[in-house]
Amino acid sequence: MTHLDKLIDERRSIRKYRDESPPDGWIKIMILAAMKAPSPSNSQPVRFIRLRSFETRCLLHQAMRDGRERLLQALMETGGSKRLRNWLNGYYRFSEFMFQAPVLFAVGTSLKFISFSERLGRACKSEQGHTKHRDLDMAVGLALKGYLLKGEELGLGSCILTAPLIFMEEPEKILSVSGIAIRCFLATGYPDEEPSYINRKDIADVYREI
Ligand SMILES: Cc1cc2nc3c(=O)[nH]c(=O)nc-3n(C[C@H](O)[C@H](O)[C@H](O)COP(=O)(O)O)c2cc1C
Repeated sequence: MTHLDKLIDERRSIRKYRDESPPDGWIKIMILAAMKAPSPSNSQPVRFIRLRSFETRCLLHQAMRDGRERLLQALMETGGSKRLRNWLNGYYRFSEFMFQAPVLFAVGTSLKFISFSERLGRACKSEQGHTKHRDLDMAVGLALKGYLLKGEELGLGSCILTAPLIFMEEPEKILSVSGIAIRCFLATGYPDEEPSYINRKDIADVYREI
């Protein structure tokens, strides 16, 4: 097994962290790894906003609690099933742990990014711009992979989270950030758990030739 194979193989999402914070220098190295990712027309649209302030984390946490109440209420009023409510609570649990992470980022993309298809769409007055979100999501995913693998090499565990966004209507407003669309959160720290085994699909399920 090569060094890279081992990093890819052993990386897991980590949701429980030791209390101590990793050195800032390591986090910077992980961000630098993220910044090497490919991006559409080398636009490098991904932005990392580190949430250091206790007050900011509290604001986000409260917004999430309010969002959960609002959604549960809406489900009650519309006769949503118990199963859906349980699901919602499950997603909440898979969001809340991020507030215990020593390092927490809101990860977003610059609103300045204009894709070629969008330019074309504007020029032709057509709906060409629809590929923009796909491009931006891919850019975020690729950047995060670099960050995660570098963290794995350093002995740090991370988890990408999109579930919190279910509970927050305008995370940018809560965080008072402009010019960026928040696409996910990213929690990092020294691992304090060993996730149990999860099954991976067989190559025959994901690969075919046509
Ligand atoms: C786009 C994306 C969103 C995710 N959102 C969450 C989340 O909100 N909460 C969470 O606990 N895990 C989240 N995860 C982590 C996945 O649950 C995890 O990657 C998956 O179960 C496979 O486990 P592994 O990362 O340990 O291999 C997310 C992963 C991705 C790629």
